[in-house]
Amino acid sequence: MAASNVVFVLLICFIINSFAKRDSLYDFLFNGDYEFIDLTHPFDNQTVYWPNAQVFRFTKQIGDYDATGSWYAANDFTAGEHGGTHIDAPYHFAKTGLHVGELPLTKLIAALIIIDISSIVNDDPKFVLYKTHLDHLLYYEDKPSLLIFKFGWSKYFNDTKKYLGQNDNDNTLNFPGLSEEVVEWIISANKKVVGIGVDVASVDPGSSTNFPVHKILSTKGLYGIENVNLSRQIPETGCTALALPMKIALGTGAPLRLVAICSKQEPK
Ligand SMILES: *[C@@H]1O[C@H](CO)[C@@H](O)[C@H](O)[C@H]1NC(C)=O
Ligand SMILES: *[C@@H]1O[C@H](CO)[C@@H](O)[C@H](O)[C@H]1NC(C)=O
Ligand SMILES: *[C@@H]1O[C@H](CO)[C@@H](O)[C@H](O)[C@H]1NC(C)=O
Ligand SMILES: [Zn+2]
Repeated sequence: MAASNVVFVLLICFIINSFAKRDSLYDFLFNGDYEFIDLTHPFDNQTVYWPNAQVFRFTKQIGDYDATGSWYAANDFTAGEHGGTHIDAPYHFAKTGLHVGELPLTKLIAALIIIDISSIVNDDPKFVLYKTHLDHLLYYEDKPSLLIFKFGWSKYFNDTKKYLGQNDNDNTLNFPGLSEEVVEWIISANKKVVGIGVDVASVDPGSSTNFPVHKILSTKGLYGIENVNLSRQIPETGCTALALPMKIALGTGAPLRLVAICSKQEPK
């Protein structure tokens, strides 16, 4: 074969191969190198909701055999937008912000960074995270990123009173959260952060009454994610998040199925 023919054949092979690669996201994801980690709490009658919100409830439950012996089951459910593992859309605290149904997929599928502060929090429900705590802990990726803070609170999710730190005497909530200072700092230091998540019931500390962190996120067009299930150990870097909420068109928030896709290899 003439040299030019060889080059031609190689070129054809290269093009075919490129197309094959482009079509193989499924094969890539399921080649054994990746694992899928569910960061979602189930929605049932144990699910934690903000005290004034409608809890998750089946309003109708059918599950029975009919006269011919065939099974039929169906339910209705009602629930507030802000409970269990859920997303806060910018419209939650900014009138001109996006609703849940308008959040672009290019922000909901993002690099995932876990910032594990649980050893500093040390189970203290009054803990608030400030800039000084984060010196060496902060890590950024140069791509659209979801940062999730691990306060170590998922272990209390099955005990609503403890999880929210509900004090019946003075009607307060007591669980750890982020300071206004730390969130302003993160957002100004890295414009590629698209969302902030927490494994507690709010991005603001439980004791907050004016919700400054919610306001910053909404005003800057970022989404929040609350009640992330971080019971399981997950690599702090290198994972990709699929944060796909129920597409409530005009929602201020919505239940969310949050999944991390992580390499089984230890990150470098
Ligand atoms: C949280 O996730 C873990 C697995 O990652 C699961 O075993 C556990 O049941 C979940 N906990 C709750 C309360 O959803
Ligand atoms: C909660 O759900 C479980 C499982 O479906 C059920 O057995 C239980 O009776 C429910 N509890 C309440 C208080 O509705
Ligand atoms: C929550 O789960 C833990 C561990 O599984 C268990 O020890 C505890 O009793 C549960 N608490 C409630 C309120 O169900
Ligand atoms: Zn919310």
